[in-house]
Amino acid sequence: MANSMVNLVFLSLTLFISIFPATSTFAGHQKGFLQCFQTMLGVDNTTSGVIFTKTSSSYEPILESSIRNARFLNSSAPKPNLIVTPHSLFHIQVALFCSKKSGLQVRIRSGGHDYEGLSYVSHSHIPFLIIDLVNLRSITINMDEETAWVQSGATVGELYYAIAKKSKVHGFPAGSCSTIGIGGHLSGGGFGTIFRKYGLGSDNVIDAQIIDVNGKILNRTLMGEDLFWAIRGGGGSSFGVITAWKIKLVPVPSKVTTFDVSRTLDQGATTLFHKWQTIAPKLPKELFLHTVVGVTNSASQEGGKTVVVSFSGLYLGTPENLLTLMQNSFAELGLRRDNFTEMTWIQSVLHYAGFSIDESLEILLRRNHSPPSFKAKSDYVKEPIPLRGLEGLWKMLLLDNSPLLILTPYGGIMSEISESETPFPHRKGNLYGIQYMVNFASNEDAPKHIDWIRRLYAYMTPYVSKFPRRAYLNYRDLDLGANQGKPWYEKAKSWGLKYFNCNFERLALVKARVDPGNFFRDEQSIPPL
Ligand SMILES: Cc1cc2nc3c(=O)[nH]c(=O)nc-3n(C[C@H](O)[C@H](O)[C@H](O)COP(=O)(O)OP(=O)(O)OC[C@H]3O[C@@H](n4cnc5c(N)ncnc54)[C@H](O)[C@@H]3O)c2cc1C
Ligand SMILES: *[C@@H]1O[C@H](CO)[C@@H](O)[C@H](O)[C@H]1NC(C)=O
Ligand SMILES: *[C@@H]1O[C@H](CO)[C@@H](O)[C@H](O)[C@H]1NC(C)=O
Ligand SMILES: *[C@@H]1O[C@H](CO)[C@@H](O)[C@H](O)[C@H]1NC(C)=O
Ligand SMILES: *[C@@H]1O[C@H](CO)[C@@H](O)[C@H](O)[C@H]1NC(C)=O
Repeated sequence: MANSMVNLVFLSLTLFISIFPATSTFAGHQKGFLQCFQTMLGVDNTTSGVIFTKTSSSYEPILESSIRNARFLNSSAPKPNLIVTPHSLFHIQVALFCSKKSGLQVRIRSGGHDYEGLSYVSHSHIPFLIIDLVNLRSITINMDEETAWVQSGATVGELYYAIAKKSKVHGFPAGSCSTIGIGGHLSGGGFGTIFRKYGLGSDNVIDAQIIDVNGKILNRTLMGEDLFWAIRGGGGSSFGVITAWKIKLVPVPSKVTTFDVSRTLDQGATTLFHKWQTIAPKLPKELFLHTVVGVTNSASQEGGKTVVVSFSGLYLGTPENLLTLMQNSFAELGLRRDNFTEMTWIQSVLHYAGFSIDESLEILLRRNHSPPSFKAKSDYVKEPIPLRGLEGLWKMLLLDNSPLLILTPYGGIMSEISESETPFPHRKGNLYGIQYMVNFASNEDAPKHIDWIRRLYAYMTPYVSKFPRRAYLNYRDLDLGANQGKPWYEKAKSWGLKYFNCNFERLALVKARVDPGNFFRDEQSIPPL
């Protein structure tokens, strides 16, 4: 590790000295960048409100504004030398040009939800800057075409809001948490409550605008189908700055139906969950029935705690039809008509984002929350976990005080899209995906919880996908491996095959075509092949 860090620093210094021999300190990178930016912009143009150095009073607030994992808010997290908040595509072109010239690495940030903070932390401690797209977030909806152009800095909440203002019967299939940024989300996949019907957010992208390593602004035609393929699931940070996406809106009924029921171990959670594993992936596409597993206090259990499984459903249809469907497929859950709530689609968005359905829609525009510290990991399950496997899993969960599993059923249209259609390979043959998460109030507790989640992951090995064990890119996990020196491609396979399976090689080939010098890079960027 120490060796590879030296290598990286050495590499960037060599590059730096050969391009820009006048200065050779880290401060020099910054000075070179600032001079370059000002020169490119023209003397009469101000960089104020566009570039923030560490001495600027706005630096900290801007840096922290979209940090979504407080694990990386601590003072030892390596901070960027500069933050650039472009107001135009020209600013991005200049920022790329000057970064190359001054030897600064670039991190691109849209919503800042990266689980390992890769959009704003460089774990290799090399000088870097952030291009934060917070000012580039326009959304233009074309109701005749049923499409929209969305800039990467917008959040999914802003997108859902904009759609709801135009139509009660249109929606978009993407994630639930309203503050997720469009840029990272669509470039890594993006699933939510209607993805069994319509696929991932990235499956519904029909055009995009990207600024490449040479500063060229490209649309789908100009970038070519291979790059357009790569950015719909392969992650954006390896290929360029994706500034906007053209998406297809999807139809939703004027009313949808939801339900939420919880069962503890005493109330038969284990058998219900066991059954859920085989039922949920086979339900009609219109019904999304996921489970969330946690622990709760219980007087009757040894240790005062028990496992609780919440079954939560969204149905694109009426309560009457849902009742029939549930009675025929999952009667054990004991649902009745009055367990269902009918609401508009946008109210279901509020519900799954954790708000009351009576909140005003403007809450979807809110971007700042105080984030928790967390560590997460992911898996895919292809065979139902047997009862004894579940019992061991519950025991593991009871060892931590704030574990959370979110289990997302696949099937539906996800099984109809081929594994190579986009870089996201988790399609047919998956019953459900698992996200393991652990939150902690204080970063001092981090090692204990991270150790626990790693043991949980090891425990799950026999029950989940193998060769490769699969993982979801948007639940980024540096435990799976990180880029460190050559041979890049061979080393990167450790995480690359998990996220992309057979698509990894093709991603590396696209990378070699569009960014052979590996300018756009981070701990888990695609290496050029
Ligand atoms: C609270 C929470 C809830 C979530 N819920 C869901 C969910 O329901 N469904 C789901 O699928 N996922 C979910 N996620 C995961 C989320 O999809 C990913 O974290 C996603 O990558 C976030 O995108 P972002 O723009 O907010 O993140 P960022 O941290 O800004 O970016 C993530 C990655 O993409 C790169 N990137 C960002 N913007 C661009 C761009 N414009 N051009 C090129 N590269 C770019 C960054 O450099 C980084 O590598 C959730 C995450 C959190 C924290
Ligand atoms: C200022 O920058 C804009 C682009 O952002 C450019 O069009 C304009 O010509 C510049 N003005 C000067 C005086 O250089
Ligand atoms: C602080 O941030 C660093 C780097 O981002 C991270 O590796 C480390 O785990 C964090 N420390 C704690 C105590 O969470
Ligand atoms: C892409 O840009 C080129 C050049 O500006 C233009 O001719 C073409 O129509 C655009 N393609 C799309 C799909 O918009
Ligand atoms: C369904 O509703 C009934 C009546 O309101 C209630 O008693 C029951 O607990 C609910 N069932 C579930 C599974 O929550």
